[in-house]
Amino acid sequence: MSRLMSPFESRGVVARNRVVISPMLQYSARDGVADDGHLVHLGRFAMGGAGIVFTEAVAVEAHGRITYGDLGLWRDDQIAPLRRIARFIRANGAIPAVQLAHAGRKAGTQRPWQGHGPLSDADREHGEPPWQPVAPSPVAANPARWVPREIAAHEIAGLLGAWRDATRRAVAAGFEIVEIHAAHGYLLHTFLSPSSNVRTDAYGGTFEGRCRLVLEVAEVVRAAWPQDRPVFVRLSAVDEAGWEIADTLRLAMQLKARGIDLIDCSSGSLYDSSTANSRLKRGYGYQVPFAAAVRSEVGIATMAVGLIVDPVQAEAILERGQADLIAIGREALFDPNWTLHAQARLSPDEGHDAWPIQHGWWLAIREKIFRRIADDGAGAASRSASDR
Ligand SMILES: Cc1cc2nc3c(=O)[nH]c(=O)nc-3n(C[C@H](O)[C@H](O)[C@H](O)COP(=O)(O)O)c2cc1C
Repeated sequence: MSRLMSPFESRGVVARNRVVISPMLQYSARDGVADDGHLVHLGRFAMGGAGIVFTEAVAVEAHGRITYGDLGLWRDDQIAPLRRIARFIRANGAIPAVQLAHAGRKAGTQRPWQGHGPLSDADREHGEPPWQPVAPSPVAANPARWVPREIAAHEIAGLLGAWRDATRRAVAAGFEIVEIHAAHGYLLHTFLSPSSNVRTDAYGGTFEGRCRLVLEVAEVVRAAWPQDRPVFVRLSAVDEAGWEIADTLRLAMQLKARGIDLIDCSSGSLYDSSTANSRLKRGYGYQVPFAAAVRSEVGIATMAVGLIVDPVQAEAILERGQADLIAIGREALFDPNWTLHAQARLSPDEGHDAWPIQHGWWLAIREKIFRRIADDGAGAASRSASDR
């Protein structure tokens, strides 16, 4: 069996293989509530053989949404539709996983296909008024954006409460892994990075101060999440403005001490313009070295992500010991059956057992037909050669 198709175990959870569908926002929820579109979007990845299927970023509070289309877990009525999705993912052999997030200064954005800029008065006219986002400091993600309001120290307890309550709702929804989104320029990342956090109180300044909120969120989520289920944290292992891999290693060590089970190693996006993010050159597997460094230096499991497109590439990452899990995003949109195709490529003799039973049976017959046609073709070709 390939490394990619071997089971992954963390606490009491066992995934059937090491392919993870990375969180991918669909910007298609109404009032933070999941619908059939989310069920089909995520369900087909479970039917496509993935080991773990992550929801998109799910907001812990309404004003922590990137767009009005984001999913949320800030109200109890948001639980049931997600529970239906988690149940479907489980019934199809994958582990249902949820990513919890707060968008911070990137909140209040138009959907990508509406321009992806900050919400404006024009959006108010179709029922989506802008709001002022919050952040560690009044520093905007780019000059076109709202300057965020600085979160007051006395508001931190409320923020932690929102993370705790959303985590409890994620438990009620039946998810088996929770990931804290502390990357990509959203609220927690902006606390970490020195250019977006210029606070002078206990939540800013020194490395310890800037990490305080992330560590407190990790504690709150870990305490609210069942002991037999893992908690992951997604970090931007390096960013464009002063957060370096050495900082990630230090923080990962402290997260590990608080019971975090895996670091999901992404990078960048502190700002929201690709020019500002250009320090990070995007080649195939460009973030894998971060996963490798965290895994070897900190001794914690890691997930590699970012332009991992090919099963042989994924297998090599695992074989070299650079990561424990492989997350795929856009490749899964391109081919929801990526995992099943990867298995066929890495272990061509294994047949169709991993496919949904309703499909595998027919696909095995399809293979036989192909083989017979090929044999007949070869026979006909050799007959016509001997006729000549
Ligand atoms: C449509 C789309 C939506 C995304 N939404 C999220 C998200 O909700 N949370 C997150 O952490 N990353 C998000 N990402 C980033 C992906 O999880 C992943 O890290 C990135 O696409 C790189 O992996 P890839 O090269 O395999 O696509 C999104 C990416 C895409 C393409």
